[in-house]
Amino acid sequence: MSKSTKKNSPIFEETLNIDNHNADDIAFDSLAEKAISRRQFLSASAVFGASAFVFGCSTYSTDKNSAKKYLDLAFTPVGASVSDTITVPVGFKWHTVASWGDPLWSKGVEFDQASRGTGASQELAFGDNNDGMALFTHKGRNILTVNNEYVNRSIFHGNRPEGAPINADDVRKSKAGHGVSVMEIMQKNGQWKIVKDSPYNRRITADTAMSLTGPVRGHELVKTSADPKGETALGTFNNCGNGETPWGTYLACEENFNGYFSSSDENYQTSAELKRYGVKNKDRGYKWASADERFDISKHPTEPNRFGYIVEIDPLNPNSTPKKRTAMGRFKHENAEVVVADNDHVVVYMGDDERGEFLYKFVSKNKYSKRGNNSDLLENGTIYVAKFADDGKGQWLALTPETTGMTIAEICVHTRIAGSKVGATTMDRPEWVAANPLKPEVCCALTNNKNRGVKPNAGGDETPLNGPNPRVENNYGQIVRWTEDKGDHTATTFSWDLFVTAGNPTVHKDAYAGSSNISEANIFNSPDGIKFDSYGRLWIQTDGKYTNKDDYANMGNNQMLLGNTQTGEIRRFMTGPKECEITGITWSADKKTMFVGIQHPGEKGNSHWPNGGNSVPRSSVVAISREDGGAIG
Ligand code: FEO
Ligand code: CA
Ligand code: CA
Ligand code: CA
Repeated sequence: MSKSTKKNSPIFEETLNIDNHNADDIAFDSLAEKAISRRQFLSASAVFGASAFVFGCSTYSTDKNSAKKYLDLAFTPVGASVSDTITVPVGFKWHTVASWGDPLWSKGVEFDQASRGTGASQELAFGDNNDGMALFTHKGRNILTVNNEYVNRSIFHGNRPEGAPINADDVRKSKAGHGVSVMEIMQKNGQWKIVKDSPYNRRITADTAMSLTGPVRGHELVKTSADPKGETALGTFNNCGNGETPWGTYLACEENFNGYFSSSDENYQTSAELKRYGVKNKDRGYKWASADERFDISKHPTEPNRFGYIVEIDPLNPNSTPKKRTAMGRFKHENAEVVVADNDHVVVYMGDDERGEFLYKFVSKNKYSKRGNNSDLLENGTIYVAKFADDGKGQWLALTPETTGMTIAEICVHTRIAGSKVGATTMDRPEWVAANPLKPEVCCALTNNKNRGVKPNAGGDETPLNGPNPRVENNYGQIVRWTEDKGDHTATTFSWDLFVTAGNPTVHKDAYAGSSNISEANIFNSPDGIKFDSYGRLWIQTDGKYTNKDDYANMGNNQMLLGNTQTGEIRRFMTGPKECEITGITWSADKKTMFVGIQHPGEKGNSHWPNGGNSVPRSSVVAISREDGGAIG
């Protein structure tokens, strides 16, 4: 990097050797070469500091003001780490805000290391495995709303000999360890803490009543013996990433809902539709059917059709009924990135996190109005699925009765099947989607896919190499980026390229070394949570392999990095404790605190974070800020 380049990029104080593996040594196949735009990154580096940056598919005029804002935060990257703690750059600090089992009410009890809680205590406490989250500020009060994706059975039930639930109270505790935690937090002496007994505090669990809205409401496919009208589902669980709307609601996205269902009849034949979603006669060890028959698919075969949606929650009204927004489809929802298009339709970008599944967007039928009632905008609209061409172009294909031969309700329940019917592009596990607030740029983390080029998805769609998914047995992942034509988020055509392909240049010299913006200084695998901040910078969180050897040598624990989508540069900002994933990100209204989630530390039994000693590891939300009190996002 030249001196003049460096002068223009104070965000990156030290020279990043982004081209330390020679492009000529790297035998990208033609798809990868086209997609990764190695040369274009090189040319982008060459013109860095000029007023326009040319990427593989799109030309962006750099807005001078946004560029100035963008460059506001400088830090020296942290090294990879295998320590059982968090590291952040010099000049930054962190503390824990909430950990699994922390009571939200004074009638609850503090987390008990020996029992790890009971059903009753967990119902009054922060759930396990925090994931996506958003902070809502209302009349000077701060309400943090957090997904509790799942429970780590071996830790959560670590008081049991097998580390597995053995009775009905263990199942009650497990159901309460899931869902969403809504809690007021407050800053005292520089530390954010839970405000116990706040009127905003609420636990939403796998048993909370919620309304089925949209096309699926009342349909045969969601009627059960307990709910013959098909209007009220109980609970939400495996809420992974999240979204938030401009009208102040929270979106919790139901992901791996299949793992909670089982069959008491081991010969039960699951339907092809349930198979597409991975519902089997065996659950993943939660044993919920042992205490709650609705999870027994041989007795209640339509119950799984009531999960896999996006749930809209009003965080400011603890008495409100959460709404399952079936119009946005049913799949293993990762997150929900909400954008109001220039024409005022609301667009929600959504990934389906499974090998060989699809990338979607929803466009609302009605328009957003600043002063109007927007509360049911997510109730009606059209779902589109992405089809990528290898030439850097792509199309959004509408899922309608005409294109699929299915009714609207069937499309909203069996969305994957509808996507297959129109020939959507099989993807390398679409995780979070993030839209840049400063320009019409959208990214999706494609975390990894060991089946790419090896076997079809669960619906039988072949998974050959394709433009945005250019590597067989892709263990490292990539981030695809696109711009809707004319910058219109409701457009049905777009241009795309790859912002980064993760890889390991210390081990590989081919396409698995990664794109030119990956070097030994910033290697990572399996990008998952991504979010643009108000400066238009892309925060990248990883949920990858942390063995730190072989293909993953020198990568250390999971981490969070900061990307500059104008230049392609990526810097490591943070490393997490052992065996964790970093997921979930939001900011305080003044942007002086960034909240980040640490999920499943010690999932294989090798962490005592955050309490140290011999303590039980606990998923937690941490607050990160600058020592000098400046803005961080
Ligand atoms: Fe819950 Fe796809 O991560
Ligand atoms: Ca995730
Ligand atoms: Ca993941
Ligand atoms: Ca996770």
